[in-house]
Amino acid sequence: MQKGEMLYEGKAKRMYSTDDPNRIIVEYKDHLTAFNAQKKASMEGKGHLNNLISSIIFQALKERGVKNHFIRMLDDTHQEVLRVKILPLEVVVRNITAGSICKRLGVKEGLKLQRPLVELYYKDDALGDPIINDDHAILFGWATEEELKKIKSSAVKVNDLLSEIFDSVGITLVDFKLEFGRTQEGEIILADEISPDTCRLWDKHTGEKLDKDRFRNDLGKVLEAYEEIWKRLSLSHEGGKEEL
Ligand code: C5P
Repeated sequence: MQKGEMLYEGKAKRMYSTDDPNRIIVEYKDHLTAFNAQKKASMEGKGHLNNLISSIIFQALKERGVKNHFIRMLDDTHQEVLRVKILPLEVVVRNITAGSICKRLGVKEGLKLQRPLVELYYKDDALGDPIINDDHAILFGWATEEELKKIKSSAVKVNDLLSEIFDSVGITLVDFKLEFGRTQEGEIILADEISPDTCRLWDKHTGEKLDKDRFRNDLGKVLEAYEEIWKRLSLSHEGGKEEL
């Protein structure tokens, strides 16, 4: 598979064309950003760890019936994925309160929600990814009503599957963000990445934070936490199995 021209560079990844118009290559970068890129750093090995973790998770979701863009991991920092047009929506699912919901609504961190809370954000860095509702997404043409229905039920299913996967390795899935894309055929499938950059993951027994909050809140040992997630997942899942 030939890595062609760079199509897009985001905060944590670069996308490249390939000789197949239906497939692209994703490169995971070592960059870490938080608070809408106001806080930045680079940590050697972060891209490799997120590539490994995201590969395991997308493969596991595929095996459990969730259609997604993942094809295969190519090397330490590259994946081959299906080319999709990413919808300008960030879909956040919360099981326990943390992060922006605590600030926005003045609720305490760590409250267990009676059922998963699904939120939509408009993906626009310049606007700081504002929270929106279904009507905004439909009326501004970011997704149809039918697509939103599918996206939300897929997000809840992914939450069930991921909660189970993480629980089996002693981790509580607090919340996470998903992105969806439209294939050339017009089908909506799960895309982007799922990693400690995009999830809140707490050790089930100690409550220790094993995700990007270690970077956001200067807790230290960021890479150690990501490595811990990868080690636990790779012991029980195929894909992304290799030595660091
Ligand atoms: O910041 P907030 O509390 O809304 O984040 C909820 C979840 O979504 C967290 O797991 C966070 O890492 C993830 N997220 C993300 N990318 C964003 C916003 C949130 O991965 N742009």
